[in-house]
Amino acid sequence: MREVKVIETEDGSSSLFLPELNETYHSFHGALGESRHVFIKMGLAHWREQFLDVRELHVLEVGFGTGLNALLSLEAAEQEKLTINFTSLEPYPIAAETVQALNYGSMVAEGRYENDFLRMHTCPWGEAVKISPYFTLRKERYKLEDFSATATYDLIFFDAFAPSKQAELWEKEQLEKISRLMAPGAIFTTYCAKGQLKRDLKALGLEVETLPGAPGKKEMVRAGKSGEA
Ligand SMILES: C[S@@+](CC[C@H](N)C(=O)[O-])C[C@H]1O[C@@H](n2cnc3c(N)ncnc32)[C@H](O)[C@@H]1O
Repeated sequence: MREVKVIETEDGSSSLFLPELNETYHSFHGALGESRHVFIKMGLAHWREQFLDVRELHVLEVGFGTGLNALLSLEAAEQEKLTINFTSLEPYPIAAETVQALNYGSMVAEGRYENDFLRMHTCPWGEAVKISPYFTLRKERYKLEDFSATATYDLIFFDAFAPSKQAELWEKEQLEKISRLMAPGAIFTTYCAKGQLKRDLKALGLEVETLPGAPGKKEMVRAGKSGEA
């Protein structure tokens, strides 16, 4: 297990600092604010607006980490009675005592999903586990580089460490893989807004938007795949 330190971000929510990379798991300006903005508002809510009559979707996350994006997706699934099948890749799971030290369970939905959050971390890998009536989690203990799937996904949460820290995950080969895993009409969302990322996503035929970033960040990127199969 990699050594991580629990930190508090500016909105009072926890995050992790990974000394090995000198990198945090979220924006220092607020982990909760960042996840809600980049992945829920600009990702999930946007997908919902495009597909109002669809009641089920498949999400693929790169980097399960603290499980914050999964928890916020569970909250949205239960609130909107929307079935979410959430697959998340994570080669370096965090320790049980680190999970206990994160305050997301109590900060989200007034603690209603605290037990669900803990279960997300203790449930087995490589199996679809129904965590709540509308939310099923499948954690895969794989690096993106080694992950292969025949399924496609409606929404991609690309939450890898920054390109300056983990360049290999942002290279064209991995983005190409992600683009192949996107269903027609699927949406890719990330906190990163680097020019090279935008050029690479465009070169893969995706429609790229630069959007206002999470609190304290100027911009973020969303990309969509054409709706035709
Ligand atoms: C920026 S953190 C975000 C994690 C998570 N979404 C969260 O909210 O806590 C990036 C995550 O990607 C994971 N990761 C590292 N290398 C990876 C790889 N090759 N493929 C997939 N995930 C990877 C890290 O272990 C870490 O949990």
